[in-house]
Amino acid sequence: MTVDVLLGLQWGDEGKGKIVDVLTPGYDIIARFQGGPNAGHTLEFKGEKYVLRSVPSGIFQGGKINIIGNGVVLDPALFKAEVEALEASGHDLSKHLYISRKAHLILPTHRLLDLACEARKGSGKIGTTGKGIGPAYTDKISRNGLRIGDLEYNFEVKYKEAVARHEILLQQMNYEYDRAALEKEWFEGIDCIRRFQLIDSDHFLNNALQNGKKALAEGAQGTMLDVDFGSYPFVTSSSTVCAGACTGLGISPSRVGKVYGIFKAYCTRVGSGPFPTELFDETGQKMRDLGYEYGSVTGRPRRCGWIDLVALRYAVMLNGVTGLIMMKSDVLDSFETIKACVAYSVNGVESKDFPFEINDSVKPVYVELPGWQTDMTKMQSADEFPEAFNAYVSFLEETLGVNIKIVSVGPDREQTIQLV
Ligand code: GDP
Ligand code: IMO
Ligand code: MG
Repeated sequence: MTVDVLLGLQWGDEGKGKIVDVLTPGYDIIARFQGGPNAGHTLEFKGEKYVLRSVPSGIFQGGKINIIGNGVVLDPALFKAEVEALEASGHDLSKHLYISRKAHLILPTHRLLDLACEARKGSGKIGTTGKGIGPAYTDKISRNGLRIGDLEYNFEVKYKEAVARHEILLQQMNYEYDRAALEKEWFEGIDCIRRFQLIDSDHFLNNALQNGKKALAEGAQGTMLDVDFGSYPFVTSSSTVCAGACTGLGISPSRVGKVYGIFKAYCTRVGSGPFPTELFDETGQKMRDLGYEYGSVTGRPRRCGWIDLVALRYAVMLNGVTGLIMMKSDVLDSFETIKACVAYSVNGVESKDFPFEINDSVKPVYVELPGWQTDMTKMQSADEFPEAFNAYVSFLEETLGVNIKIVSVGPDREQTIQLV
């Protein structure tokens, strides 16, 4: 069978966690393929709310196998905290969560290096989540990383070598820190990881597919944060696009089935970097208030703006999206009109193509559509959609060239409407 891929098309926080949970009953395996605890995937059902960082979002739908793939970077201390919180709320992970031996470890010194690098950048900082993501992937690419599989052989020596290397860098940056405090909880996290089944996830997944199992790959972050195609250098350090699912899980491109591209009916971003449709007025504040746009990991207010169809078309192209999923349309329920950016004007010249770089000379060109001004949060089927909402959906489908398959009208699992 195939691996379907679900990934974000904007700057993250599109609602991936919620939809992976909704789609999980149709799959045998759910696998995270990149990122790490920079992710915060929120799920709500039966009056409970959970935020997952490294654990895949298929963990709540009983009996499914969840895999932390080789493309992920894992922080033992944060992983332990996440596992313990889930176990405390009655969710036993040990039988359903497997970890790839080839996934890389985030060391305490990676976290310190992340903070030190950001501090040095001053006002030019990326606004990272401070979880050590960049330094951990840097070590992976420069062939200095420590992998989960290393826990099984000569681990202490490899750990000490890595820390010694990091400390030279930290001293060069005059960064003061208390490594011992961080290390204690980190090693407790290592003991926690040892409780789980460590697998060769590439072989495991391919064997499962060969035996007729269906898998869903869960993306983290979003296409505009991709290290190659996002708003570089204001990006994360992994391949968030569909191709990342192949390298992050060890599956061939021919194994990829559907590609679900998920986006908000408007747009948000956390951290620094360009955002052409950002709103600094009361409309942006209204989106933030109604959408409760505060980071699920850092609590930072998310920057809000209108939907950017230039960036979205680019993301659809890069990922080969076969079906779109629109989230948080309820946040726009009370808006009289809705704007959509259909082109960029660069020094007076309009273009629908995403440029090399979105710098200050890029200005959004908008069309304005009528709002639906109807509370959609209790709707159960597409038959109930107001006309103006259907017109917004059709407009997006035509502009993006792909159909919208799912519309989300609230954070709860139940507030999800499939379109035929
Ligand atoms: P992810 O990182 O892509 O999984 O998204 P996050 O969990 O970081 O952010 C999405 C936020 O929107 C969470 O607080 C969700 O509970 C919430 N959410 C998801 N879908 C909807 C929706 O359709 N309407 C509203 N109002 N909130 C939603
Ligand atoms: P989910 O999976 C939104 C952003 C950070 C920063 C940049 C680099 O919940 O959608 P990093 O810590 O990765 O080095 O930070 O990327 N960022 C996210 N923004 N959602 C996320 O994940 C993010 N993960 C990282 O804010 O701008
Ligand atoms: Mg998130």
